[in-house]
Amino acid sequence: MPGVEGRVVVVTGAGGGLGREYALLLASRGARVVVNDLGGARDGSGAGTSMADTVVGEIRAAGGEAVANYDSVATSDGAAKIVQTAIDHFGRVDGLVNNAGILRDRAFHKMGDDDWESVLRVHLFGGFNVTRAAWPHFREQGHGRVVMATSTSGIYGNFGQSNYGTAKAGLIGLTNTLALEGRKYNILANAVAPMAATRMTEDVAPPELLKKLDPAQIAPIVAYLLADECTDSGSVIVAGGGQVHRVQYFQSKGVTFGDVPTVDEVAARWSEITDMTGSVPGTNPVG
Ligand code: NAI
Repeated sequence: MPGVEGRVVVVTGAGGGLGREYALLLASRGARVVVNDLGGARDGSGAGTSMADTVVGEIRAAGGEAVANYDSVATSDGAAKIVQTAIDHFGRVDGLVNNAGILRDRAFHKMGDDDWESVLRVHLFGGFNVTRAAWPHFREQGHGRVVMATSTSGIYGNFGQSNYGTAKAGLIGLTNTLALEGRKYNILANAVAPMAATRMTEDVAPPELLKKLDPAQIAPIVAYLLADECTDSGSVIVAGGGQVHRVQYFQSKGVTFGDVPTVDEVAARWSEITDMTGSVPGTNPVG
């Protein structure tokens, strides 16, 4: 049975939505959980303690172990305090779910500096900040699990989400390198792109679709990726409405030019370069 029993897991943005589901399931499986949440609005404005406190109350009422933290993932100082909460209360940190997020959708031609920066700060810098704070502990103990909340918006793009999609794609890039650098220390890093009815999606999808997207359906995927038995690293998993699949880059057979090609030669062979028939999983040509 895949386990997180006795493990200490930090879940950022766990005061509501998906993070709350992750925290509740992890605690019910015997993990000790740091429930982090800044407690603000969907656009990142405001702050408060009640969201994290409520989830900690739910976990304790069910007999689980949890502690609240209200710092922002968007600063390295906040991130250090989040991880320190785990150390102070539970003496260690074994896993991290970088789940905190905000939304500031704008068409690209209307995207302002603040909308761009605040979304990257929370998602991309947030993922970096908290992972960097936990990393030395993971390395020292030879065990660590990182789950990044990415999005199909980062994988495929989405109207109005150039800021959000960029941040979410960046987290996949971060996950890829963490998987490489973490492997010899038994630190595994994976990304999950959820699809779930939460306050983040309440007005961006039709109600009939949202009814099928219970956020509880994502929690077992995240819990598995945090479990001792998990060996995957560098995977991107898309999950929602009961459907779970892995997404991966593939590369075409391509062409090899013996010499510097002319533009006309490139044009003549373009369909061969881009034809994905017989494509194979992509590999890094520089090793
Ligand atoms: P949500 O808005 O319910 O949860 C996000 C939580 O993060 C909130 O509780 C919020 O207070 C907290 N938060 C925001 N800024 C923070 C900060 N600076 N520091 C600490 N906490 C902060 O939204 P939801 O849907 O539960 O999203 C969770 C994650 O899943 C996000 O990263 C989101 O981008 C991602 N996601 C969700 C999808 C969905 O279908 N719901 C789709 C794709 C990705």
